[in-house]
Amino acid sequence: MNERTLVLVKPDGVGKGLVGEVISRIEKKGLSLAALELRSVSRSVAEEHYAEHQGKPFYEDLLEFITSGPVVAAIVEGPRAVAAFRQIAGGTDPVDKAAPGTLRGDYGLEVQYNLVHGSDSVESAEREIKLWFPDY
Ligand code: CMP
Repeated sequence: MNERTLVLVKPDGVGKGLVGEVISRIEKKGLSLAALELRSVSRSVAEEHYAEHQGKPFYEDLLEFITSGPVVAAIVEGPRAVAAFRQIAGGTDPVDKAAPGTLRGDYGLEVQYNLVHGSDSVESAEREIKLWFPDY
């Protein structure tokens, strides 16, 4: 049974030239792309996307960062797509949590600049896909 997840290559990942690497790992895992777009992020989409983090000490920095440059947004699809992409991404903290061999483990250093976002549950995925790709 296919599942969908929202993937973002964040401004640091785009800036480091990692878009191809992220897409390549998604495809090699056997997941597929149902939508893919380079775009800039408005403050209001950023606020809605990160609503659950409102009030946390890093919230304002997070909004500033995610709106600081282009991101690549994708709908990724396949069996267990949510968990499968989180495995590819690695844990949120690129050094303490992400294992070598994952995107964050291989290419990240700081928790704020952790290169990619993947929805954390099927429910979040559907909410985030509605926000980023309302026509899908
Ligand atoms: P993401 O998977 O996009 O979801 C929330 C984001 O908040 C997370 O990746 C990190 O980029 C960021 N984040 C989480 N914890 C911290 C923290 N302690 N300091 C700064 N940024 C954080």
